[in-house]
Amino acid sequence: MEGEKSMAGSMFEKSEAFAFKLDSEDPLAEYRHGFYVPKGTIYVDGNSLGLLSKESKASVLRVLNEWKTLGIRGWLDAKQPWFYFAEALGAMCAKLVGAEPEEVVATGTTTVNIHSLVNTFYQPDGRKKILADPLTFPTDIYALRSVVRLRGLDPGRDVVLIPSKDGRFLEEDSIVDMMGEDVALAFLPSVLYRSGQLLDMKRLTKEAHRRGILIGFDCSHSVGVVPHQLDKWGVDFALWCSYKYLNGGPGGTAFLYVNKKHFDREPALAGWFGYVKEKQFDLSIDFEHSKSAGGWQISSPAILSSAPLEGSLKTILKAGIEAVREKSLKLTSYLIYLIDGILSEKPYNFHIGTPREAERRGGHVAVEHEESMRISEALRARHVISDFRPPNVIRIAPIPLYNTYHEVWRIVQHLKAIIDKKEHEKFPKERKKVS
Ligand SMILES: Cc1ncc(COP(=O)(O)O)c(C=O)c1O
Repeated sequence: MEGEKSMAGSMFEKSEAFAFKLDSEDPLAEYRHGFYVPKGTIYVDGNSLGLLSKESKASVLRVLNEWKTLGIRGWLDAKQPWFYFAEALGAMCAKLVGAEPEEVVATGTTTVNIHSLVNTFYQPDGRKKILADPLTFPTDIYALRSVVRLRGLDPGRDVVLIPSKDGRFLEEDSIVDMMGEDVALAFLPSVLYRSGQLLDMKRLTKEAHRRGILIGFDCSHSVGVVPHQLDKWGVDFALWCSYKYLNGGPGGTAFLYVNKKHFDREPALAGWFGYVKEKQFDLSIDFEHSKSAGGWQISSPAILSSAPLEGSLKTILKAGIEAVREKSLKLTSYLIYLIDGILSEKPYNFHIGTPREAERRGGHVAVEHEESMRISEALRARHVISDFRPPNVIRIAPIPLYNTYHEVWRIVQHLKAIIDKKEHEKFPKERKKVS
């Protein structure tokens, strides 16, 4: 920890001039002009809802126009025929996650994809348990418990939660220790949504497989900001949302990945869009799935909520995921450096709740404070859009494609001013409906 601190210390300086210097050296700086950053705001909530890009707006407008001018013919005659839209987006996204084009498809929503894939891969026989973690986003646990319940098993007993020592992080060693002979499946997040810890997916996959356990990941908090090697690591399945780092729009179509070694498995939640494409319109009542990730589609693709992804994926691919990761780590390291150096002592008392080691960090920083909820409100009043996660975390996600180092510097000045002027004390202690 201290080593990282001093390393960061030697890389950065506290002055505003230094923030400008970092921006002037930023090879991704021009991408900010490709996004609609809400006027007068510092938007660091792209880990919750990424911003609209000009490319996404263009792809949405094109699809709308195709609907207007082609009607139903858009399924085959649109520039990107809607019949193949999900597969085309899957092939683009595959490049971000180290997969082959047919292993990824844009479909459904995150939670529905959890149900679909976990039901496919969880085949309790001798082994009945699903290994999960209590720090993951709750929808994952709701879904796992309902899968187990549907099999007539006991969710309290058969969904096993890995204990965390401090409520922030999970030790990979503890996860491996829990991979017992009664575990059928492990389903874990790539990045913990609150602390921003990035799990070692490569190691966990290897250890699971050595013990005869299948493993899947919810990569909602990593795809688009962290490079993945799902094929190389041998991950069995994965899924992720598109509205965070992929900038696919609120509630946009999600993605799923199925490793090609599993293409022969029967999708648990079969539906007609999973049918072999060439024969789908034979409309046979006997299901024949497409032996690709596309086989796990259920319904007609939601073309309008998939359309932004064509533009946003194009933008990320053009920037390059390695360059995105490099800048993301530099932004988050800089934020950690400034908070440690300016705000960690009395009367500020901010604390970093994210791993300091770069390889254990996703795209956001968890800034802890006992008044985090009201400070988060005070930040919003100062037009800094971050979010609050109970009990004490302000999540700050400086996004490589549209945030600047100077914005990071300014956020720290805002936090300092809020405490200096006790601005947070003006806000109610009750949490808003959406935080
Ligand atoms: C890890 C993770 N999974 C799932 C979800 C939400 O699922 P859905 O897209 O089905 O609403 C979130 C929401 O932020 C999340 O952080």
